[in-house]
Amino acid sequence: MRKIVAANWKMNLRRESAATLAGALAGDLRQLWLFPAAVHLNSVRLQLSDTKILLGAQDLSVHKDGAHTGDISAEMLKDCGCEMVIIGHSERRQGYNEGSDVLLRKLVRACSAGLRPLFCVGESKAERDSGQANAVVESQLLILKRLAPEARAMVAAVAYEPVWAIGTGVNATLAQIEEMHAVVARKLGGIGMHATPILYGGSVTPENARELLASRAVDGVLVGGASLNYDALSRIDDCAKAQEIAPRGVSAQLEPAPPPEALALLFERDTDDFNIEVKVKPAAPAAIVAEVPATPPSDGALSRYEQEMGLRKPPTQPLPRTSQGRLQPVAPTSQGKLPPVRPVSQGSVPVAGDISRKATAPLPTPAPAKPTTPVAPKAPSEAPTAEVKPEAPGAKTDKPEKPDTSKNSGPAKKSNIYDDTDRPSWV
Ligand code: 13P
Repeated sequence: MRKIVAANWKMNLRRESAATLAGALAGDLRQLWLFPAAVHLNSVRLQLSDTKILLGAQDLSVHKDGAHTGDISAEMLKDCGCEMVIIGHSERRQGYNEGSDVLLRKLVRACSAGLRPLFCVGESKAERDSGQANAVVESQLLILKRLAPEARAMVAAVAYEPVWAIGTGVNATLAQIEEMHAVVARKLGGIGMHATPILYGGSVTPENARELLASRAVDGVLVGGASLNYDALSRIDDCAKAQEIAPRGVSAQLEPAPPPEALALLFERDTDDFNIEVKVKPAAPAAIVAEVPATPPSDGALSRYEQEMGLRKPPTQPLPRTSQGRLQPVAPTSQGKLPPVRPVSQGSVPVAGDISRKATAPLPTPAPAKPTTPVAPKAPSEAPTAEVKPEAPGAKTDKPEKPDTSKNSGPAKKSNIYDDTDRPSWV
């Protein structure tokens, strides 16, 4: 299983430059995880059919469907060809106050739609300076404990991204990364996630990628700014290609994820400490048999994901797939007025820097490094139990229940962010 290179394009690029960059990387037969902005998912997807590049989204809604203006649901992303989604990125934790309550909902929504979460953790500068880095990261990982083992097995990777290293041009030292990855590995091992890859993110460049990716503690990298540049991302991927992920525990093999049909997730109150446990409803035996892969899984992580995802039926409106399980090429004209982005033919490798000549508009270069604003020290705020509101024990249901207002047994509704149709029973 080769090391992973994931590209988080954040809020960058335009439709044509995103498609051109994706097409060039696909033409080089790269094996990457690409996370374009949501509006570019479709144009990027059109470049990726029959490639080993996996498509992911940068965020998803906590809601399943309905009147949530501006939100994009897990099932919509899946329907758009996404196989993964980033959850817990510090830019959302800090910029949108996403705490463990919101993140848990997102994890559950993703898993139940068959999207594999890429879960991010990382401490701020102030937290590191006050000696709390380990405690903060450990508490951020606690949320995974609240998922059922089947949902944990769907986590594509955990990315350690120290906030102070993101976009600053100052990456963590290898010693710091190895120490923190050991913390993450210990925590993941404690909940049966021995095989979940651990990525590093924060000012990864072609210059530091070789050293980072040579470490046994680093299973891959999550790249921001440098991933917007064809040449830089290609050079980072070249460093990863040569490296194998080192097995970390007895159970080094990632369990195949259950099919979405089996992931009718239930919320249930834990009577001891009010933690939420996400239970997986067992699928009917016939459905499980139907979903067992007929061919043995291959060695590579990417192709294993492809195999699993190819065998899985999207919840709604499945996209046409090839016999290998990849998305069928879709003629751009049938999808509307996609501008003519010329796909790079297989085997034709663009020379370094060549991509800017293929695009109508030149690709933007990574934003210049700028220091992060110092954040006032604070105690770890991710303790999951703190944000979960208990309610009177009730019977398990497939659907989140409406609160029984007549009994007034639960806490008062805090805001109007949850609607009646998808409110979990523990809210
Ligand atoms: P930079 O590589 O730009 O520091 O961003 C890292 C990141 O946040 C990836 O998710």
